[in-house]
Amino acid sequence: MKVAVFTSGGDAAGMNPALKAFVELSYSKGIEPYFIYNGLEGLIDGKIKKADYSDVAGILHKGGTIIRSSRSKRFYEYDYRKQAFENLKKFGIDRLVVLGGDGSFKGMDVFYHDFGVGFVGIPVTIDNDIYGTDYCLGVDTALNVIRHMLDNIRDTASSFGRAFVVETMGRNCGYLALVSSIISGAEILSIPELPIDYESIEKRLKKEIEQGRSYVVAVVAEGTKQTYKMAEFLEKNLSMETRITILGHVQRGGNPTVFDRLMAYKFMEFALEHINNEEIHDMVAYKDERLKLIDIDTVVNNKYSLNPFLLKLGERLTR
Ligand code: F6P
Repeated sequence: MKVAVFTSGGDAAGMNPALKAFVELSYSKGIEPYFIYNGLEGLIDGKIKKADYSDVAGILHKGGTIIRSSRSKRFYEYDYRKQAFENLKKFGIDRLVVLGGDGSFKGMDVFYHDFGVGFVGIPVTIDNDIYGTDYCLGVDTALNVIRHMLDNIRDTASSFGRAFVVETMGRNCGYLALVSSIISGAEILSIPELPIDYESIEKRLKKEIEQGRSYVVAVVAEGTKQTYKMAEFLEKNLSMETRITILGHVQRGGNPTVFDRLMAYKFMEFALEHINNEEIHDMVAYKDERLKLIDIDTVVNNKYSLNPFLLKLGERLTR
């Protein structure tokens, strides 16, 4: 059996460990492993090559993806998808393993319904915004990067008695900001999933300032578009000298954590165990600390929502 893997959409730490796991576990299961370079773009262009151990030597500790990634606009068009299908036929590839996020799975859902190519998706995105899974590969590393940055910012904020607004990534999802605010002891949180009450925040922090608070850290998810408004609020309403730090793409890189490395192997083992299932077009989900398969139609037709218990923990920082 020939199985090809590709990485698609925003890269995340954990992709390289998953690629190493793919090659090693494939050979141990008698599967012939192939790499498709440049994500869906490479599938269209036929950038396909048989993978062996030497391709994945020394990559486990690296962020990013050695086979590169892309966000393909061409894949929305039937003719390009047909071209992609012809490439798979040419190489005799039976099944695919897809490492990516929601956008990539939407594309694969359409591809499956066009040509019936079986695949297993592994959720990989720092946004952690995919329906059906509590955890996406790479999010643990991104959270550790943010934790490190917030710790550093707190050092300077406290030394200068300043306010800091720190913007995290996550597209429309507030997961990174929510978790980071809780574990770093932020004073304010703004995420798309929770309303923000500036008036209450002002009252709460003015009281704390009277009692001796000298600095403030606000974590704002990019999806809220509140970063500059928050800074203005801190300057004007709390009379604090304020700085903005937009963390940006540093959150996408870095040395994968132990958790992301181990999960890369677990996800891949589970994916390859089921790759030969009849009419497979599923994603491996990590739900309630167990791995399971979910039909890709269900994944792409539902919206991820944040865990209510986590939301409750963050809520007090929004008012
Ligand atoms: O989906 C991952 C992500 O990093 C989002 O958090 C962010 O909004 C987006 O990708 C940035 O995209 P790009 O790398 O294309 O600038």
